[in-house]
Amino acid sequence: PPNRPVLGIETSCDETACAIYDGERGLLAHVLYSQIRLHAEYGGVVPELASRDHVARIHGLVRGVLDEAGLAPANLGGIAYTAGPGLIGALMVGASVAAGLATALDLPLIPVHHMEAHLLAPMLEERRPTFPFVALLVSGGHTLLVAVRGVGDYELLGESLDDAVGEAFDKTAKLLGLPYPGGPELARLAERGDGRRYKFPRPMTDRPGLDFSFSGLKTAVLTTLPQTPDEQDKADLAASFQEAVTDTLAIKCQRALQASGYGQLVVAGGVGANLRLREKLAERARRDGFDLFFPRQAFCTDNGAMIAYAGWARRAQGRAPDGALFTTPRWPL
Ligand code: KG4
Ligand code: ZN
Repeated sequence: PPNRPVLGIETSCDETACAIYDGERGLLAHVLYSQIRLHAEYGGVVPELASRDHVARIHGLVRGVLDEAGLAPANLGGIAYTAGPGLIGALMVGASVAAGLATALDLPLIPVHHMEAHLLAPMLEERRPTFPFVALLVSGGHTLLVAVRGVGDYELLGESLDDAVGEAFDKTAKLLGLPYPGGPELARLAERGDGRRYKFPRPMTDRPGLDFSFSGLKTAVLTTLPQTPDEQDKADLAASFQEAVTDTLAIKCQRALQASGYGQLVVAGGVGANLRLREKLAERARRDGFDLFFPRQAFCTDNGAMIAYAGWARRAQGRAPDGALFTTPRWPL
């Protein structure tokens, strides 16, 4: 039956996560295992290790989420999984488990686009947007501005021509000698810094358009970095970098709202957890009179809840490519 809860499985990168979403009762349960400590000593995600660890964790997590929701597998109405984009070996773990469950339980198998799930994540909150809205998707692999008219009805307004914004955070953090994952570490360091000390560019804001470019900012930090920086230099660099990035994102969001004529902005993806970005956008929202929506912090970064929700929403609208088992490392929205 279409109104039964959907199990969602996420294994696209370095989090193994499962959740169950029900159309009437909402999110019933979500569980997550982060591999961050596993990859930390390598300074980034090692794909082969990620795949192996997904295999080691996924069974326990599926069991756990069913227990937490108090559901027997027979009560499920569909199995959603992240089909891409992501690390291919990691994706295949979730896809295989999902296909096995769907076959054994005779349930529809629902492939989910990871970025679509990110942009629908604010729908898991009590205060949620209504269609249409503009979405800023900012993660480790993507920087996208999207006009969202409904589930499955998206128009790409702008994207990064080089590094994704999360990638820029991570690479700059590495330059400053911070441990992986760099984004949140850099944000923490920036709290103690003076964001006006170094003048970094706001790339591509001096000409029309909604595309981004962040690789130059990282280079600007590198060339500004003193030979032997002290802690204050590093904090000031982190803060100045963060100011430049968040200003740039805020300017482009405003332009996208103007161009589309929509009055709501959704910000999602890992960098959406950045407090300075949230602060700046909230300020603009008050000033310019648009409504701003964020998923809670835990649903900004990768999670199973957004996969379960996206799978449920696709299915509820009859837009799920039923029965398809596939994985794809690259997949345009
Ligand atoms: O969405 P996500 O969890 O995974 C991907 O699909 O990529 O995003 C991860 C990215 C990483 O680049 C991480 O450094 C960044 O989000 N990130 C942050 C913060 N929290 C996570 N960047 C800046 N400030 C944060 N507070
Ligand atoms: Zn993600």
